[in-house]
Amino acid sequence: MNSNRLRSLPHLLLALLLTFAGAQQATAQDASASTATVSKAGVTPGATDGATASTAAAPAAGGADAAAVSAGDALFKANCTQCHAVNEQVVGPALSGISKRRPITWIIPWIKNSAKVVASGDEYAVALYNKYQKQQMPSFGLSDKEITSIVAYITSQEGGAAAAAGGATVQNAGAVDGAAAAGAADTGAGKYVDILLIALVVVLIVMVVTLIIIGNLMKDVLRGRKDLDGRDTEILEQRFDWGKFYRSPVLRGIVGVVFAVVLLYEGVQSVMAVGLTQGYQPTQPIAFSHKLHAGENQINCAYCHTSVYKGKSANIPSANICMNCHSQIKTESPEIKKIYRAIERKQPVQWVRIHNLPDLAYFNHSQHTQVAGLQCQTCHGPIQNMEVVYQYSALTMGWCINCHRESPLNTKGNAYYDNLVKLHDTKNAAAPFTVSSNGGTECSKCHY
Ligand code: HEC
Ligand code: HEC
Ligand code: HEC
Ligand code: HEC
Ligand code: HEC
Ligand code: HEC
Repeated sequence: MNSNRLRSLPHLLLALLLTFAGAQQATAQDASASTATVSKAGVTPGATDGATASTAAAPAAGGADAAAVSAGDALFKANCTQCHAVNEQVVGPALSGISKRRPITWIIPWIKNSAKVVASGDEYAVALYNKYQKQQMPSFGLSDKEITSIVAYITSQEGGAAAAAGGATVQNAGAVDGAAAAGAADTGAGKYVDILLIALVVVLIVMVVTLIIIGNLMKDVLRGRKDLDGRDTEILEQRFDWGKFYRSPVLRGIVGVVFAVVLLYEGVQSVMAVGLTQGYQPTQPIAFSHKLHAGENQINCAYCHTSVYKGKSANIPSANICMNCHSQIKTESPEIKKIYRAIERKQPVQWVRIHNLPDLAYFNHSQHTQVAGLQCQTCHGPIQNMEVVYQYSALTMGWCINCHRESPLNTKGNAYYDNLVKLHDTKNAAAPFTVSSNGGTECSKCHY
């Protein structure tokens, strides 16, 4: 009697789990039906495999363009956001509508090397360059495909209504039904895949548990039979020997190797990071905000960092420069009173230095800002959006050298370079005239 009840327990559990599994499948289908027409295939209840196959296939097909947009998203954030936003002007123009404004055959060479496009006399490029005070956009070693994905991302982000439209084209191209809800355009695809994955994992777990229960049920039935011989009972009573498993040399070997590899990797990573201060963001004595001053109030960088176009170093402004405005503005603010106190005591404000190359390296701002025409943001990142400044670039030797290898020299209208350019062109006109071809990677240029 007692054992009978025990035996019916697994039955009950099994029944429960099967119901649960059925419900899970239904939810999975609901989820897919609301965003796309995956469930058209018609899934028979219980045929878990069929459901898995048909639901998994759809996002894969639709994923091609969504993947381009998300690749473009990452590339845009890594390379362009210092200077560009899609719907507003930052350092460079707003990029919304760029695919309508310019053909892709223009955009690709422009992003690869805008100086070359301007130098070629392209009317649009020259006008744009002049409009933005001859600020030169840096060159990017991106492939055509990567640039196309950036443009796809920009198109997907254009305005509110445009975003939905962009999303729709992406989905249509992927042969996924356009029944998607409007707002789902950029986040929908990712969320949808997540939900599907979770549902699949749950279904899998349910299947495994079900199989174990069925296995146990069958063993139970077999144990009830009297006509088993010794071998059969042995198989029936077989258990997995965990102790042996733990002690096996193969397992120990694998664990040992994995441990050693992780340790080595972490070790190399931390050794490589010695002396690296990328991301350093100390708290400053006065809550001075570049976002407020350089961003919202558009105060020119050189208004405060007066020597950045003329000298080796970009100076930090003295309290006098603050007083040009703050003798009138916000005079009651406790933060501003700190400036007054410094002036009364005849002591400078003790700003904490963020960027600091070792003494063995020589770096000159005017060479880069005035002569090369580089933007501050190329090296310092989106300063105009920073409440508190942090070190954006790695400032390693490799960082300097990489840029010198890739950047073309800004030789236009600089008589100093005329003879050098002529010499370079007669020797190997095919290769671009980079900083490095002018000796910009020679040790003595940067080391005393
Ligand atoms: C350091 C600042 C800076 C960065 C970084 C930058 N740009 Fe620019 N970009 C500019 C400026 C400035 C202009 C305006 C033209 C000029 O002055 O050369 C411009 C112009 C453009 C234009 C032409 C816009 C139009 O209205 O015709 C496109 C397209 C463009 N950038 C794309 C990009 C992309 C894509 C990236 C990232 C891979 C990028 N830019 C990174 C500064 C930058
Ligand atoms: C109103 C004056 C003012 C303007 C305008 C201004 N800055 Fe600054 N900047 C400061 C002060 C003060 C500090 C030191 C405190 C700090 O780090 O926030 C500073 C610090 C910095 C630093 C970090 C220096 C270090 O310690 O390594 C950088 C980089 C920088 N500014 C770049 C810029 C750029 C780029 C712009 C223009 C987009 C700009 N600043 C505009 C006043 C200004
Ligand atoms: C060209 C004018 C100008 C200069 C120069 C200037 N500021 Fe400002 N500052 C402003 C303006 C405008 C505001 C915003 C005032 C407001 O929010 O009403 C402001 C706000 C501030 C605030 C926030 C005050 C608060 O309590 O909200 C601080 C702190 C500050 N400035 C510090 C400085 C320091 C330090 C310097 C010198 C390195 C400096 N400012 C130079 C124009 C200037
Ligand atoms: C080619 C890269 C590059 C560009 C472009 C650049 N900087 Fe710097 N900046 C640096 C490096 C590297 C340092 C650290 C210098 C050092 O420690 O000697 C630095 C340091 C600074 C400092 C701290 C003071 C100093 O000189 O050490 C300020 C402020 C600053 N930069 C502002 C600017 C401003 C403003 C611009 C644009 C007008 C600009 N930088 C453009 C690379 C750059
Ligand atoms: C974003 C690109 C970029 C980065 C990063 C950069 N540079 Fe440069 N650098 C240039 C360009 C472009 C020139 C050429 C300027 C010209 O026309 O003379 C240059 C020129 C120089 C020169 C003069 C070379 C010569 O032939 O006379 C020195 C020295 C130099 N850089 C040092 C550095 C150091 C040190 C760093 C790193 C801390 C650095 N640069 C980082 C772009 C860069
Ligand atoms: C474009 C500029 C540039 C050139 C060219 C350059 N270096 Fe460097 N080098 C740097 C900078 C900047 C640092 C500091 C980087 C840091 O602190 O991580 C540095 C650091 C070093 C260091 C490490 C010092 C230390 O204490 O960690 C050595 C060694 C070195 N350079 C040797 C060389 C040699 C040899 C060459 C010629 C083959 C060379 N460098 C060419 C910019 C340059």
